[in-house]
Amino acid sequence: MSVATMLENEAMKYAADAVKYDKMGDKDKATESYKRAVEQLTRLIKLYPDYTFNKFYVEKVTTYQERIRLLKSEDGEDMGVEKFTSFETKQTSSQQSMDENASEPSEKPNVNWGDVAGLEDAKKAIKEVIVYPVKRPDLFPLGWSRGLLLFGPPGCGKTLLAAAVANEIDAQFIQIDPANIMSKWLGAAEQNVAKIFGGARKTAMAGKPVIIFIDEVDSILGVHTNEVGGEVRMRNQFLKEMDGLQDKGKNYHLYVVAATNKPWDLDWAFIRRFQKRVMVPLPDYATRLQMFELNSAQLELTQDVDFHTLTQLTDGYSGSDIKDICQVIRQEVIRELFESGEADNTTKKPRKLNIADFKRSITNRKPSVSKEMMKEYDKWFDQFKAL
Ligand SMILES: Nc1ncnc2c1ncn2[C@@H]1O[C@H](COP(=O)(O)OP(=O)(O)O)[C@@H](O)[C@H]1O
Ligand SMILES: [Mg+2]
Repeated sequence: MSVATMLENEAMKYAADAVKYDKMGDKDKATESYKRAVEQLTRLIKLYPDYTFNKFYVEKVTTYQERIRLLKSEDGEDMGVEKFTSFETKQTSSQQSMDENASEPSEKPNVNWGDVAGLEDAKKAIKEVIVYPVKRPDLFPLGWSRGLLLFGPPGCGKTLLAAAVANEIDAQFIQIDPANIMSKWLGAAEQNVAKIFGGARKTAMAGKPVIIFIDEVDSILGVHTNEVGGEVRMRNQFLKEMDGLQDKGKNYHLYVVAATNKPWDLDWAFIRRFQKRVMVPLPDYATRLQMFELNSAQLELTQDVDFHTLTQLTDGYSGSDIKDICQVIRQEVIRELFESGEADNTTKKPRKLNIADFKRSITNRKPSVSKEMMKEYDKWFDQFKAL
């Protein structure tokens, strides 16, 4: 057992004891156990300062210290034991909260294909991997892939695409992020992964397609310099669940879509589980043109605004950059209206946006993705394309 796993287990054990004593009203023993839990967690944080999930443990330490302080001060009077311990139990027995999460259909994302500009290759790949098997499973006697990895520079539509596909096939959309997978205890994270997949399987077997979406997957399931026991176990559990999806005879529709800006933080064992890997690149000319149209649809423009000119000026900009460019000038004209003192008159509208506004905004906003960075994505893709 690694030192990290040991500290983690100890901390969990002391915390459970502390809550138990706290409920029984044994303040001395409760305080003692909370202190021990804090000690173990503090050692863990010091030992692995770069550890991805430290912020959860720091939070825990703060919570316990607060409780210790309260126990000292109250002296006989019962202040919030119930509230505190029920909070703590809820946080630690992830089982309970995950059950709720997994069985409750999450809110359907309100994004459609039409909201995603360009990315024809990515859309095509998604249709082949997910949409067609859902619509005509009879055409896939040998089964279908379950894993889709979207990678590429930030702000180019990966999250948008995942939401759009969930809508397209009317799927339950379960998003995995550090907050719902950690539930404050790294040790419980592997159980949480199992719970999420278990719940998703149930829904899928009942006939409803499910998409498990892991945004910024590198931050949760990537390989980090300091690996703490719970992190490794969580990743292994995830790999196990992914393998289970591929077993023969499983013809339900449960897909795992992962997105990352840092594919190089993922290891081979992980990547291999995603049969389909799709690059979501910087927008090309036609896509940027479409983005200017989408983002300006609600804006009042003067005659001189020519989207082709703007598109030429934004080679290398991401979709998110273009959105910002449009938003910034919209805000400018609103500010102008307020500063003119005429905003109180509700019939008064902001002035129309002209081409000079757009050009100024473009000059002020540098592209957020560099050429060198793009080369890294291409290089990474070439490496894994063949495999
Ligand atoms: N292809 C696109 N079509 C339309 N809007 C886009 C596109 N790419 C990015 N955007 C805009 O940028 C924002 C961030 O995009 P997002 O999908 O979160 O990027 P990523 O997940 O690749 O980092 C979106 O909410 C959207 O407003
Ligand atoms: Mg995103």
